[in-house]
This record gives sequence, C-alpha cells and structure tokens, in this order.
Amino acid sequence: MTEGHIHSARDRVLDLRRKIEDHDHSYYVLDRPTVSDAEYDGLMRELRTLEAAHPELADPSSPTMRVGGKPSSGFSKAVHRVPMLSLENAMDRDEFRAWHERVRRVLGTEAPESIAFHVEPKLDGISMSLLYENGVLVRAATRGDGETGEDVTANIRTIRSLPLRLHDDGSGIPPLLEVRGEVYVTKADFEAFNARLPEGEPPYANPRNFAGGSVRQLDSAVSAARPLRIALYAIPDGRALGVATQTDVLARLAAFGLPTASAWNRTCSDASACEARWDALDAGRDAMPFEIDGVVIKVDDLGLQEKLGFKSREPRWAIAWKFAAREAVTTLRDIIVNVGRTGVITPAAVLEPVNVGGVTVSNATLHNAEQVARLDLRPGDRVAVARAGDVIPQVVRVVEPGVPRSAPFTMPVVCPSCGTPVVRAEEEVAIRCPNRKCPEQLKAHLRHLAWKDNLDVDGLGDKLIAQLVDRGLVATIPDLFRLDETTLAELDRMGAKSAARIAGSIAAAKTRPLPRWISAFGIRHVGAVVAATIADHAPSLDAFRGLSREALLGMPDVGEIVADAVAGWLADPEHVAMLDALVAAGVAPEPPKRKTEGGPLKGMTAVVTGTLEGLDRRDAEQWLKDAGAKVAGSVSKATTFVLAGEKAGSKLDKARTLGVPVLDLETVRAWLSGGPKPFE
Ligand code: IVH
Repeated sequence: MTEGHIHSARDRVLDLRRKIEDHDHSYYVLDRPTVSDAEYDGLMRELRTLEAAHPELADPSSPTMRVGGKPSSGFSKAVHRVPMLSLENAMDRDEFRAWHERVRRVLGTEAPESIAFHVEPKLDGISMSLLYENGVLVRAATRGDGETGEDVTANIRTIRSLPLRLHDDGSGIPPLLEVRGEVYVTKADFEAFNARLPEGEPPYANPRNFAGGSVRQLDSAVSAARPLRIALYAIPDGRALGVATQTDVLARLAAFGLPTASAWNRTCSDASACEARWDALDAGRDAMPFEIDGVVIKVDDLGLQEKLGFKSREPRWAIAWKFAAREAVTTLRDIIVNVGRTGVITPAAVLEPVNVGGVTVSNATLHNAEQVARLDLRPGDRVAVARAGDVIPQVVRVVEPGVPRSAPFTMPVVCPSCGTPVVRAEEEVAIRCPNRKCPEQLKAHLRHLAWKDNLDVDGLGDKLIAQLVDRGLVATIPDLFRLDETTLAELDRMGAKSAARIAGSIAAAKTRPLPRWISAFGIRHVGAVVAATIADHAPSLDAFRGLSREALLGMPDVGEIVADAVAGWLADPEHVAMLDALVAAGVAPEPPKRKTEGGPLKGMTAVVTGTLEGLDRRDAEQWLKDAGAKVAGSVSKATTFVLAGEKAGSKLDKARTLGVPVLDLETVRAWLSGGPKPFE
C-alpha cells in the first residue's frame, strides 16, 4: 500500500478504481487529461496487481475489466425492456415539411405557435441499449429485431470513453437507468485500421460495417483492439426521471458522464431552423469526424412526444431526414488483378471515370473473387458505384448488363506477376501467390515499408520501387538499404540531386524509431498501436527478436491472435535472415523514448497554440511529452500552462480568462534546461 492512511487492500482497490475512472473521464470524454501516461499506467498496474492478489475483490465494473480476456461462446439474447424502434425517413425537404405538418395536425390545438425540435446528426453506426443498475453498467444489447437483441456487454465494456459507472452530479443515480445511443468509429480511425489490415482480409466497406463487426466479436480482446466509440442520445424513461425535453435528456446524459455528440446537437426553435441546420450538416458532413447519413429531428418537448405517440414501429415525434446517397452509375471497363504484400491476389475494377458526390472515381477494389461472383460483375456492364465519405469507392451492383455480355470473371490460376501457380489457404477466401520472391509482392512490401506512417522514405514512390525491382537492383528488402547514390543516379528520370536526396532518406530510414520498424515489417494484426506496445516492452531490435509468445501475451492489449502472429513471424527462418541482413546493412532502429517517469513536467498538462519560431506544433508537443507532460487540445481549468507562439487565438483568450499561465517558447526552453519554474 502506498498511502499510510489506507488500511486495507479493499480500500486501496476502490480508491484506485475511482481515480482511474476520473482520469478516463477527463481523458476520453472531456479531452482534458489530468495525469501523465506514466502515472496512469502506474495506477492501472497497481490495481491489476491488487486484484490478482485479492480475487475476492473482483468486480466486473473495474477499469481492469475493459480489456476482455476470455472468448465468450456466442451471445446470449437480451430482451429489451422497451422495444427499440426505428425511425421514419424523409428523403427530401418536401417530405420533411409534410412530416412537420402532420406533427402540427396530430397535436391540433395543443400545438404551440412554433414547435421546438432537437436536431441531431444521424450517426451511421450500430444502435445500442445500455442498462445501468445502481449506476453500474450491467448490460449492453444490440437492437436485434427491436424486441430482442444480442448481449454484447463484454465488448461494449472495452469502449474506453464509456463509463462503467455513472457519475453522480448530485442529482442522484436512478436504481435502473436505460440509455440508448450509437456505437460508431471515426473516419480517421476507420481508415487507419483498414490501411493496416493484412492482405486478403477484405477491408471493411464503411465505418458502420466495421463498427458492427467489432461489436459482434466473440473474443472481446478483439473488440478491445478496435477503435470503437459511442454517443448516447436517448433515455427511454426520460419523463420518469423528471426530464422535460430532449435537450435536457442530452444534458442529463452528459451529467452522468456519458459521451454524447454534444458538439453537433442543436435545439431549433422551429421547422425552418431545422432546415437550416440540415443544410449546415449536409454541407459540412465531409469535415465531420464521423460518418452521418442524415439528421434526426425530434420534437423537443417530451410531453408533446407522448401526445404524438407511435405508429406501428416508429415514433411520430421523430424523423430521420437523410442526405442524398453518394452513388453514380458508370461502365465497368475491366476487371484486373493485383498481387499484394503477402501474395494475396485481389481483383479490382477499372471504371469509366465518373463523378461520385464530387470526387472522380476510376478504380474500385473488389476485395475477392467471391464478391465479383456475388455481384456477377462483367466488363462492359453498367454498374453503381458508391462512396462513403473518404472511404474507398465500392461497386455495389450491376445496373444494366453489357450487350453482348462478357464471360464471367475467373481468377487467374497462375500469379500474373511471376507465373507461379496460385494456392488457396484453407478456410480463406483469398488466393495467393506462394512465391516469396514474387516481384509484385516485393514491390508491395517496399511500398508498405516506405509509407509515411512506417519508415517514411521520402521519394521512394511506386514508380521508383517498380524500377528498382524490375531492374533487379532490389531483390530482397535488405537490398534497399545497400543501394548507393551512384546506383540510384543511373536510373531513368533520376538526376544527381534526387539520387542524393533519396539515398539520404533511405539512410535516415535505418534509424527510424523501433515502433515504426515493427509496423513496417507488415506482420499480421500488427499496426501502429500494437507495434508501439511491443516496442515499449522490447525496446531494441534484439529484444524484439527474442520475444516469446508468453512475453507477448504479458503485454497489455496483446491477445492470442496478435501473440501468435508475432511469434510465428519471428520464428520464420526467412524473417530471421532478413533481420540479420538488415542489421548488417546498418539498420539500427532508435529505441522508444523511455516513458518519462520523472520528467520535469510530470503531472502537468500543457496546451500548445499559435506558431512557434522554428518548431512545428507536433514537435513542440512531443518535446513537452518527452519532458513528462500530458498535452491537451483545449484549455481548461486542468491545464497547467499554455505554450503560446505568434498568432495565438481563442486558446490564449481562454487561458487568460481562466488564469492559466501563458509561456513563450524561450521561457519554456529556459525552464526545461534547468531554469526556474516560471509560475507557481
Ligand atoms: S433516435 C425511436 N437519434 O438511426 C427513436 N437514432 O434509422 C430511436 N440513429 O435505430 C432512434 N443517430 O440506430 C436516434 N441521433 C439519433 C440517431 C439515431 C443514429 C440511428 C439509430 C436508429 C436508426 C433509425
């Protein structure tokens, strides 16, 4: 026990859980971290240790239970207390206006002069019902058929922004509280995840699909590794809680510490304000962090809602006013096949260029042969192409078969690159080229390696990679690191200057941080996050090479799937030889920065704003983190200081209003190089 006044393990466990919950809330919901990562990790570690030593203190709502361990054996059914309904759709303005008229008509003389509405983004995710018993999350269920859903509690528990225990803002916690909302994934998280998927695993079509798949994982450790979020928007028994409007429902949800889409919700005083809000969200949807497919407009007054009631499966008091679909029709010119990093051969559509919701689309992935067969796509067909946000375009269906119709598509029986007969791994849809020396595989590997999030080899683009491989200058990955400037200068379209620059970026890649190297190896299931965890525990290439499956399993958030993938990769003699050759070629990854246990800024939260002379914002933030600070995106009372440069705006104003110290770069530099702390 670290604190003298805490006498029992039980007290300390309760104390730790409360502290961690508070920190989680500050970090995930308020975006205002209150402790350093190291401190947070320390609390978590202590809690895990105590819980392991005292199994009698186990509690399913403990923060340690978020990362599920044991796979469950399917989902049990969850009967909804109150059926989960769906919403009526309005496809255009006229339909919205007709709905509004109907609301007025049904309310008759009870309709106020102008009816106020609560206008919310229609999150494109998976609807979820959560039950809190005496403030503790006891059940999470999918919608299912509306009456009965699946019990996905273990998976939903892994959502970090979701409190396992409600906050009490003083108004009390009801003995039983059901709240509803949407589980979703941000566009950025979705794209990052798809970009790192092993080949052959078709990328998730859209964030909604991805969220759904992640919620329905039988192994909650898999869900835990997915960047799921949730936004709550309903309390079915709102009136019983004494809440009068949907606006207040959202306020109560937030007061319970539950995440909401508060930044995007509005109370609108009448129908024309709703229309203006719809216009604004329609125009701004690309810039929003998550996918929305429309706007949900709800009569704000819960009393009026009750009067309006339901018609069959839909409430009369709400409508989903959808955005126009982002679909276009074009001609499928050809179906080609690509060979990926691991030899997986995937079909792709070559399209007559077409504008889909403002973006010209001329290629679309087809994922695998089964998809082509399912859609029965053939060159010459007119096809519908859909695009969701920034997501890769999809061919969704044949609109009009070509005349005369081409023969059905078949996958090649030999690799289109090296001619090796293809193989199909058991239980996999994908077919692969088994030749590890296949030039297309090597090219794909090199592209992955050079990718900006991995080794970031500036200048090493697709064309150069193709030339290097096709000319036999690079036959294995280590060959890349043996290239010299002279060899590069002899290539097509390569001046002495570019050759020098590229040689420089290849040299620089040799000492990229270890997590980037681990991610660059392209091991199945190992993306940036897992790579960072591994590097923290095995802080050198040698340590990494020596990792056992058991050691991997001991790392936070590493489950059997990841551990098997990494251990299997490390055991492969070809990878052992490659690692030896890389080291011989001078590859020496920079070890991860030691977690700042006691940096000078430990326990402080800093915010960076404005333009800093000679230091880009990201570097400045890293610099502060290295000194032990937490860096937050917005100024609050929890901010210790603001580092402000030129042209600082609202954050500076906020800091001044709150009395948060504002420091310039020079002052912080002087402080961190041993000078006095510039504030109290
Ligand atoms: S209210 C009875 N609000 O849209 C009303 N639904 O098309 C229940 N959805 O099943 C839903 N954002 O999954 C509501 N702000 C929002 C929503 C929302 C997304 C989803 C929800 C629902 C579907 C209906």
